[in-house]
Amino acid sequence: MKKRVFSGIQPSGILTLGNYLGAIKRFVEMQDEYEAFYCVVDYHAITVPQAPETLRSQIAHTAAFMLGAGLDPEKMTLFVQSDVPAHTQLGWIMECTASFGELSRMTQFKEKSEGKESVSGGLFTYPALMAADILLYDADGVPVGDDQKQHVELCRDLAERFNSRFGKVFKVPEPIIGETGARIMSLQDPHKKMSKSDPNPAGYISLGDSKDEIVKKVKRAVTDSGREVAYDPEGKPALANLITIFSHCAGKTIDEIVAAYDGKGYAEFKRDLAEAVVEAITPVQEKHDALIADGSFVQILIDGARRAHEVSSRVLKRAKEAMGLSVLLDPEAVRL
Ligand code: AMP
Ligand code: TRP
Repeated sequence: MKKRVFSGIQPSGILTLGNYLGAIKRFVEMQDEYEAFYCVVDYHAITVPQAPETLRSQIAHTAAFMLGAGLDPEKMTLFVQSDVPAHTQLGWIMECTASFGELSRMTQFKEKSEGKESVSGGLFTYPALMAADILLYDADGVPVGDDQKQHVELCRDLAERFNSRFGKVFKVPEPIIGETGARIMSLQDPHKKMSKSDPNPAGYISLGDSKDEIVKKVKRAVTDSGREVAYDPEGKPALANLITIFSHCAGKTIDEIVAAYDGKGYAEFKRDLAEAVVEAITPVQEKHDALIADGSFVQILIDGARRAHEVSSRVLKRAKEAMGLSVLLDPEAVRL
């Protein structure tokens, strides 16, 4: 039997090059070797306010970009989280399994809530829902970028705690983190991850950007002082990030890139980098546009939700029975 993987992406904006290199490209590679479930996690996106029309369109674009990148409905299951009721149901159970203290230690919550006047309860309990997402599919592995590692570790802790209280219900998953590309940084600040929720669009390359926009953003990307194209993540983090992006987009090693720009300046490097990025994402954009134009992604999501419901409802049932919840699941068991 193939091992299972599960991963999710929030429809909170148009996907960035960071999502593509850090997550989606690997989702595509994994669909052959694993039984893969990929989810557009719209319940996670509403932990911050979303306008309904924008959310609807971002769900469509997120799914179409994932399919455009090469996810194949014949090989994997792609679905939208709010179409599958088991997620919020097990989500609640996981909220009750997690402690306030461990949720308080999640760095993403600290980052996202810092300086905000009002923060939703959902933003705080978000990792419990994420744990439910994963556990519902008996996933062996969870391919994610480096920023999500702490959440997957929490998921493991919750699964183990639940199992020790109620018997072996959940499979305990492992995070699968790529070596490079796991963290693509902002083009404007190499200490911040490239994020679709960055208020400054110069910080990220979106999969929706035109060729001209990409060229402009790469030109404006901050570099470190000096003139040489050298890979030094500690001393020259901005340049190292650009070299990493180049390496992924062009399918070359870091050393090959550095050698190719020996004695050449930043301008030439940036010109070629922009071209490599455009070449990498243009085919994804074209497939995305075709899927949006003919609407064929919709049926894929409907079929995906049906399949996801089949699998997840069985695991949810196991969890509820083990805990002593529900009359309907086993009416005889509650006759005292
Ligand atoms: P999100 O956009 O936060 O829903 O993230 C979706 C997936 O993309 C997760 O696996 C993240 O770890 C990954 N990801 C997001 N931003 C980056 C980035 N800048 N570099 C690498 N991976 C990323
Ligand atoms: N929290 C993830 C992120 O922000 C998205 C996510 C939700 C996820 N549920 C998941 C990722 C389950 C992996 C597995 O990127």
